[in-house]
Amino acid sequence: MTNTEPTKLDATHFDSKARQWDDNPLFRERGLKIADAIRQTVPLHQRMNALDYGCGTGLLSFPLKDELGAILLADSSSGMLDVVREKIAAQGVSNMTPVKLDLLIDPPPAQRFDLIYTSMTLHHVPDTSHILRIFRDLLQPGGYLCIADLDQEDGSFHGLGVDVHHGFDQADLSRRAAQAGFAELHFQTVFSIAKEHEGGTRDYPVFLMTARRAGT
Ligand SMILES: C[S@@+](CC[C@H](N)C(=O)[O-])C[C@H]1O[C@@H](n2cnc3c(N)ncnc32)[C@H](O)[C@@H]1O
Repeated sequence: MTNTEPTKLDATHFDSKARQWDDNPLFRERGLKIADAIRQTVPLHQRMNALDYGCGTGLLSFPLKDELGAILLADSSSGMLDVVREKIAAQGVSNMTPVKLDLLIDPPPAQRFDLIYTSMTLHHVPDTSHILRIFRDLLQPGGYLCIADLDQEDGSFHGLGVDVHHGFDQADLSRRAAQAGFAELHFQTVFSIAKEHEGGTRDYPVFLMTARRAGT
Protein backbone atom coordinates (compact mmCIF):
# COMPACT_ATOMS: atom_id res chain seq x y z
CA MET A 1 0.00 0.00 0.00
CA THR A 2 1.41 3.44 -0.88
CA ASN A 3 1.48 6.15 1.76
CA THR A 4 -0.28 9.23 0.35
CA GLU A 5 -0.24 11.23 3.62
CA PRO A 6 1.40 14.63 2.97
CA THR A 7 4.77 15.08 4.70
CA LYS A 8 4.66 17.67 7.50
CA LEU A 9 7.77 19.80 8.04
CA ASP A 10 7.38 20.05 11.82
CA ALA A 11 9.75 21.31 14.52
CA THR A 12 11.80 18.07 14.50
CA HIS A 13 12.49 18.61 10.77
CA PHE A 14 13.91 22.07 11.53
CA ASP A 15 15.73 20.77 14.64
CA SER A 16 17.64 18.41 12.34
CA LYS A 17 18.54 21.24 9.92
CA ALA A 18 19.54 23.86 12.49
CA ARG A 19 23.27 23.07 12.89
CA GLN A 20 23.92 23.29 9.13
CA TRP A 21 21.52 26.17 8.41
CA ASP A 22 24.11 28.95 8.36
CA ASP A 23 26.47 26.89 6.13
CA ASN A 24 24.12 27.58 3.22
CA PRO A 25 25.32 30.78 1.45
CA LEU A 26 21.91 31.16 -0.18
CA PHE A 27 20.19 31.38 3.21
CA ARG A 28 22.74 33.93 4.43
CA GLU A 29 22.41 36.05 1.29
CA ARG A 30 18.60 35.85 1.46
CA GLY A 31 18.66 37.18 5.02
CA LEU A 32 20.91 40.09 3.99
CA LYS A 33 18.76 40.98 0.96
CA ILE A 34 15.52 40.92 2.96
CA ALA A 35 17.14 43.00 5.71
CA ASP A 36 18.21 45.58 3.07
CA ALA A 37 14.68 45.75 1.68
CA ILE A 38 13.20 46.16 5.18
CA ARG A 39 15.55 49.03 6.07
CA GLN A 40 14.72 50.73 2.77
CA THR A 41 10.96 50.41 3.34
CA VAL A 42 10.47 50.81 7.10
CA PRO A 43 11.89 53.77 9.08
CA LEU A 44 13.82 51.64 11.60
CA HIS A 45 15.01 53.15 14.87
CA GLN A 46 16.63 51.96 18.07
CA ARG A 47 13.47 52.33 20.16
CA MET A 48 11.58 49.85 17.97
CA ASN A 49 10.43 46.74 19.77
CA ALA A 50 10.55 43.91 17.17
CA LEU A 51 9.39 40.31 16.78
CA ASP A 52 11.11 37.93 14.34
CA TYR A 53 8.58 35.14 13.88
CA GLY A 54 10.00 31.82 12.66
CA CYS A 55 13.46 33.28 13.22
CA GLY A 56 15.41 30.11 12.44
CA THR A 57 19.04 30.87 13.27
CA GLY A 58 18.39 34.62 13.18
CA LEU A 59 19.72 35.25 9.66
CA LEU A 60 17.34 38.20 9.28
CA SER A 61 17.61 39.61 12.81
CA PHE A 62 21.41 39.68 13.12
CA PRO A 63 21.84 42.12 10.19
CA LEU A 64 19.12 44.41 11.68
CA LYS A 65 20.07 44.22 15.36
CA ASP A 66 22.01 47.51 15.59
CA GLU A 67 19.11 49.46 14.02
CA LEU A 68 16.43 48.19 16.42
CA GLY A 69 15.64 48.14 20.13
CA ALA A 70 14.67 44.85 21.79
CA ILE A 71 14.15 41.92 19.38
CA LEU A 72 12.20 38.82 20.38
CA LEU A 73 13.27 35.86 18.22
CA ALA A 74 10.48 33.30 18.18
CA ASP A 75 10.53 29.82 16.66
CA SER A 76 8.86 26.46 17.28
CA SER A 77 12.16 24.58 16.76
CA SER A 78 14.36 24.17 19.86
CA GLY A 79 17.29 23.27 17.59
CA MET A 80 17.08 26.61 15.76
CA LEU A 81 16.81 28.47 19.07
CA ASP A 82 19.89 26.67 20.47
CA VAL A 83 21.90 28.00 17.51
CA VAL A 84 20.47 31.52 18.02
CA ARG A 85 21.44 31.41 21.72
CA GLU A 86 25.01 30.40 20.86
CA LYS A 87 25.32 33.17 18.26
CA ILE A 88 24.00 35.76 20.72
CA ALA A 89 26.52 34.65 23.34
CA ALA A 90 29.43 34.48 20.85
CA GLN A 91 28.73 38.02 19.55
CA GLY A 92 27.89 39.49 22.97
CA VAL A 93 24.52 40.78 21.73
CA SER A 94 22.38 42.43 24.41
CA ASN A 95 19.08 43.25 22.61
CA MET A 96 18.04 39.81 21.28
CA THR A 97 15.93 37.28 23.23
CA PRO A 98 15.12 33.83 21.83
CA VAL A 99 11.81 32.19 22.77
CA LYS A 100 10.13 28.91 21.84
CA LEU A 101 6.76 29.96 20.49
CA ASP A 102 4.13 28.71 18.08
CA LEU A 103 1.51 31.45 17.94
CA LEU A 104 -1.16 29.03 16.69
CA ILE A 105 -0.80 26.91 19.85
CA ASP A 106 0.87 28.92 22.60
CA PRO A 107 -0.43 32.02 24.39
CA PRO A 108 0.88 35.18 22.69
CA PRO A 109 3.54 37.29 24.42
CA ALA A 110 2.16 40.05 26.67
CA GLN A 111 4.12 42.85 25.04
CA ARG A 112 3.13 44.79 21.90
CA PHE A 113 5.54 45.33 19.01
CA ASP A 114 6.38 48.24 16.68
CA LEU A 115 7.60 45.82 14.02
CA ILE A 116 6.98 42.16 13.20
CA TYR A 117 9.01 40.50 10.46
CA THR A 118 8.97 36.92 9.25
CA SER A 119 11.06 35.27 6.55
CA MET A 120 10.10 32.05 4.72
CA THR A 121 7.87 30.99 7.62
CA LEU A 122 4.35 31.94 6.50
CA HIS A 123 4.20 29.03 4.02
CA HIS A 124 4.65 26.66 6.99
CA VAL A 125 1.69 28.11 8.89
CA PRO A 126 -1.56 26.38 7.84
CA ASP A 127 -4.06 29.20 8.49
CA THR A 128 -2.73 32.41 6.90
CA SER A 129 -5.66 34.62 7.86
CA HIS A 130 -5.45 33.47 11.48
CA ILE A 131 -1.74 34.25 11.84
CA LEU A 132 -2.30 37.66 10.19
CA ARG A 133 -4.95 38.48 12.82
CA ILE A 134 -2.55 37.37 15.58
CA PHE A 135 0.18 39.61 14.11
CA ARG A 136 -2.30 42.52 14.02
CA ASP A 137 -3.17 42.02 17.70
CA LEU A 138 0.52 41.89 18.62
CA LEU A 139 1.31 45.18 16.87
CA GLN A 140 0.92 48.69 18.20
CA PRO A 141 -1.45 50.80 16.07
CA GLY A 142 0.62 51.98 13.09
CA GLY A 143 3.12 49.16 13.71
CA TYR A 144 4.80 47.53 10.72
CA LEU A 145 4.42 43.99 9.41
CA CYS A 146 7.03 42.63 6.97
CA ILE A 147 6.47 39.23 5.39
CA ALA A 148 9.08 37.69 3.09
CA ASP A 149 7.99 34.53 1.35
CA LEU A 150 7.68 32.73 -1.96
CA ASP A 151 5.49 33.91 -4.78
CA GLN A 152 2.87 31.38 -5.75
CA GLU A 153 4.52 28.30 -7.30
CA ASP A 154 3.44 24.85 -8.46
CA GLY A 155 4.62 22.92 -5.39
CA SER A 156 7.98 22.01 -6.90
CA PHE A 157 9.88 24.21 -4.42
CA HIS A 158 9.45 21.75 -1.53
CA GLY A 159 8.34 18.85 -3.74
CA LEU A 160 4.80 17.62 -4.17
CA GLY A 161 3.51 15.76 -1.13
CA VAL A 162 5.00 18.25 1.35
CA ASP A 163 2.29 19.90 3.42
CA VAL A 164 3.07 23.62 2.99
CA HIS A 165 1.52 26.52 1.10
CA HIS A 166 2.85 26.64 -2.47
CA GLY A 167 3.90 30.24 -2.07
CA PHE A 168 1.38 33.08 -2.04
CA ASP A 169 -0.67 34.90 -4.61
CA GLN A 170 0.04 38.57 -3.83
CA ALA A 171 -3.55 39.70 -4.52
CA ASP A 172 -4.95 37.00 -2.22
CA LEU A 173 -2.45 37.79 0.54
CA SER A 174 -3.25 41.52 0.21
CA ARG A 175 -6.94 40.80 0.61
CA ARG A 176 -6.35 38.63 3.69
CA ALA A 177 -4.04 41.26 5.20
CA ALA A 178 -6.60 44.04 4.59
CA GLN A 179 -9.34 41.89 6.17
CA ALA A 180 -7.08 41.28 9.17
CA GLY A 181 -6.72 45.05 9.69
CA PHE A 182 -3.62 46.05 7.72
CA ALA A 183 -3.25 49.07 5.44
CA GLU A 184 -0.53 50.69 3.27
CA LEU A 185 0.28 47.33 1.67
CA HIS A 186 3.34 47.24 -0.55
CA PHE A 187 5.00 44.34 -2.40
CA GLN A 188 8.46 44.11 -3.91
CA THR A 189 10.59 41.22 -5.18
CA VAL A 190 13.71 41.01 -3.02
CA PHE A 191 15.40 37.73 -3.90
CA SER A 192 15.19 34.74 -6.18
CA ILE A 193 16.04 31.14 -5.28
CA ALA A 194 17.39 28.96 -8.09
CA LYS A 195 16.71 25.24 -7.78
CA GLU A 196 17.84 22.42 -10.03
CA HIS A 197 15.11 20.16 -11.34
CA GLU A 198 15.13 17.34 -13.89
CA GLY A 199 14.15 19.74 -16.68
CA GLY A 200 16.77 22.37 -15.71
CA THR A 201 17.11 25.28 -13.28
CA ARG A 202 14.02 27.03 -11.98
CA ASP A 203 13.82 30.39 -10.21
CA TYR A 204 11.48 31.00 -7.28
CA PRO A 205 11.03 34.72 -6.55
CA VAL A 206 10.76 35.87 -2.93
CA PHE A 207 8.57 38.92 -2.21
CA LEU A 208 8.59 41.29 0.72
CA MET A 209 5.15 42.52 1.75
CA THR A 210 5.14 45.52 4.06
CA ALA A 211 2.00 46.80 5.75
CA ARG A 212 0.91 48.81 8.80
CA ARG A 213 -1.62 47.99 11.45
CA ALA A 214 -4.57 50.23 10.72
CA GLY A 215 -6.68 52.03 13.31
CA THR A 216 -6.03 52.87 16.90
C1 LIG B 1 12.36 28.08 6.19
S1 LIG B 1 12.76 28.36 7.86
C2 LIG B 1 13.22 30.10 7.81
C3 LIG B 1 14.13 30.49 8.96
C4 LIG B 1 14.60 31.94 8.93
N1 LIG B 1 13.50 32.86 9.06
C5 LIG B 1 15.38 32.23 7.67
O1 LIG B 1 14.88 32.99 6.83
O2 LIG B 1 16.50 31.71 7.55
C6 LIG B 1 11.18 28.40 8.66
C7 LIG B 1 11.29 28.58 10.16
O3 LIG B 1 9.98 28.74 10.66
C8 LIG B 1 9.85 27.96 11.84
N2 LIG B 1 8.42 27.64 11.99
C9 LIG B 1 7.65 26.87 11.19
N3 LIG B 1 6.39 26.85 11.65
C10 LIG B 1 6.36 27.65 12.75
C11 LIG B 1 5.34 28.03 13.67
N4 LIG B 1 4.07 27.59 13.54
N5 LIG B 1 5.67 28.85 14.70
C12 LIG B 1 6.95 29.30 14.84
N6 LIG B 1 7.95 28.97 14.00
C13 LIG B 1 7.66 28.16 12.97
C14 LIG B 1 10.73 26.75 11.60
O4 LIG B 1 11.09 26.09 12.79
C15 LIG B 1 11.91 27.38 10.88
O5 LIG B 1 12.89 27.83 11.76
